[in-house]
Amino acid sequence: MAGRKNIIITIDGWSSCGKSTLARQLARELNYVYIDSGAMYRAITLYFLRNHVDWTDPAQVMEALGNIQLEFRFNEQSQKSEIYLNDENVEYLIRDLVIAEKVSDIAAIREVREFAVGQQQEMGKRKGIVMDGRDIGTVVFPKAELKIFMTADNAVRVERRFKELFEKNPNISIEEVKNNLEMRDYIDSHRDVSPLRQAEDALVLDNSNLTMGEQLKLAMKWVNEKLLV
Ligand code: DC
Repeated sequence: MAGRKNIIITIDGWSSCGKSTLARQLARELNYVYIDSGAMYRAITLYFLRNHVDWTDPAQVMEALGNIQLEFRFNEQSQKSEIYLNDENVEYLIRDLVIAEKVSDIAAIREVREFAVGQQQEMGKRKGIVMDGRDIGTVVFPKAELKIFMTADNAVRVERRFKELFEKNPNISIEEVKNNLEMRDYIDSHRDVSPLRQAEDALVLDNSNLTMGEQLKLAMKWVNEKLLV
């Protein structure tokens, strides 16, 4: 739409409650850029594991971060933006449970957060962006025009993540997935640096009983209200 103003939309919330699905839907609808901030923490985790970085040692963390270059590139075929770690497409690798088991610890490190947040803020400079994560509305873009906080029943979230991971690894158990989600939610919301919390001005979207079409409709209603202001 010509002349339409561009805004920043932030989507935060618990693990596996559909943040990236909604973020993608909105980006497509509005022709905005979608940035998956969790993918950045996952790619950093992959680098640390591959290179045996001792992340309890701040000097090693700083040195490793100095060697990490992250970039999102749009894949025309999948119509998704994918993350590159030092020029390697790691979009698929970072979804593994091995990464999910360590990522919350690494995302809790101050130096790692400063590294990622700086890049995220840079990406939002031109607005017209939807970014999802845990601290996007509270820390990365505290002045964002629209902040959404997503939530869903625990059982629904476990089921969704299980289906996603089972396609890649049929040996995975529902217990493993449940434990990982609970552990990540706990670490993400209890860490000292930028813990997951709902921004005071965020609108809550509980999608336990919503179809994808219904959740998009609700979020687009909020977007349109903001675009009119
Ligand atoms: O959204 P996700 O599951 O891909 O995120 C992976 C991990 O990264 C998650 O356990 C918490 C962390 N994370 C974060 O701390 N801050 C963000 N903005 C995004 C993700």
